[in-house]
Amino acid sequence: MPSTATSSAGRPAWTPDSWRSRNALQQPNWPSDGTLESVLKHLSTVPPLVFAGEARALTADLARVSQGEAFLLQAGDCAESFDAFSADSIRERLRVILQMAVVLTYSAGVPAVKVGRIAGQFAKPRSSDTETVDGVELPSFRGHMVNDIDFDAEARVPDPRRLVQAYNQAASTLNLLRAFTKGGFADLTRVHQWNQEFVSASPQGRRYERLADEIDRAMRFMGACGIDPDSAPGIHEVDFYTSHEALVLGYEEALTRQDSLTGDWYDCSAHMVWIGERTRGLEDAHVEFFRGIANPVGCKVGPSMTPAELVDLCDLLNPGRVPGRLTLITRMGAEAIEEKLPPLLRAARAAGHPVVWTCDPMHGNTFTAPSGRKTRHFDAILAEIAGFFAAHRSEGTWPGGVHVELTGDDVTECLGGAEDILDGDLGLRYETMCDPRLNGRQSVDLAFRVAELLRGD
Ligand code: PEP
Ligand code: CO
Repeated sequence: MPSTATSSAGRPAWTPDSWRSRNALQQPNWPSDGTLESVLKHLSTVPPLVFAGEARALTADLARVSQGEAFLLQAGDCAESFDAFSADSIRERLRVILQMAVVLTYSAGVPAVKVGRIAGQFAKPRSSDTETVDGVELPSFRGHMVNDIDFDAEARVPDPRRLVQAYNQAASTLNLLRAFTKGGFADLTRVHQWNQEFVSASPQGRRYERLADEIDRAMRFMGACGIDPDSAPGIHEVDFYTSHEALVLGYEEALTRQDSLTGDWYDCSAHMVWIGERTRGLEDAHVEFFRGIANPVGCKVGPSMTPAELVDLCDLLNPGRVPGRLTLITRMGAEAIEEKLPPLLRAARAAGHPVVWTCDPMHGNTFTAPSGRKTRHFDAILAEIAGFFAAHRSEGTWPGGVHVELTGDDVTECLGGAEDILDGDLGLRYETMCDPRLNGRQSVDLAFRVAELLRGD
């Protein structure tokens, strides 16, 4: 049973601003000159970025994941940038996610629910409020929604006007994503064109080409059997959803709107939002905000989570035990997953919670290489995913998905993979503003490995 301290029954009624009476961690120290208030007032009047009906469609798709009938692929940048913002960069991220999804669907025979870390992933939690370089101490970089990454005092001052820029960039990103996913780019007949040149020259790229050939053949086969692939909308367009860590609560509150159809409140900044590992305290502001929005929601779950706390979290965020409402994103580290995950799986099942379990193999496996760069090794990423599958197999639960940081570009940020990136190579194209991301080749490679695990190879 949940303790009364944490059950929602014991809480005052939820409102979009009820989080304000609780402890909000990781919030920027905004200047107190009134700019924040006027920006938030403005944002509370702008059009929603997503509609309630779309968020409900994602809940329904995730319900299928929670029932073992689909797999969640959640992927994108660690932190989106205001500077590296272009149609090309959006298209390349979408392209690699579509490639991964088609590998998973075709090789493992399971539908992939596609959710980007995109169109709103602009705010970052930090382990320290300040950063010191050569004896100079400045506020930490908290994502382009808050301040700038340059190490100078002016750049690091949180600027509320950035919230409006984040909204505008999210709107135009989403607009392009809608055009790409419904307007031909995502058509299965173009499956070959999703393979970028630098990927297609690699062994993973050639493996992908063979799979794309098989898909072509399968479509011709269906046509020859009198099944018209043209009449199936799933061939020509895909459902692609957006998500981000809803960290800066003032922004999220301003975009929260009441749905006229159901009377429920939706955070219309993205289809799905999640709570980060550093802000998931049951009594804190993020959990309070999340319990009242009707979107599908996620929460990161690191190695310090206990089974009792996990059940309390599920009771707060999904008291109605609605399938698809709650996704738990485990990020234990490759070493810890097989020990830490099974007790959590058992506790959620015993409490009757229909959780979507997904594996973030990135954030528990980050370290600083001798060169001084923050990185992750492809083998550790794979090892955590393998441990995740093993834990689910042993408990009889469904390994519902993966949550990864990637880019479509040819970066050198994560070690290893088939091209075997070494520490000495990291400096070649290390472009991330925050955590190291898989490049296009590593991402396609990962999709094939996950498909093998799904098939039980
Ligand atoms: C992230 O997803 O970028 C992140 C900061 O993760 P976590 O909250 O799990 O540390
Ligand atoms: Co990250």
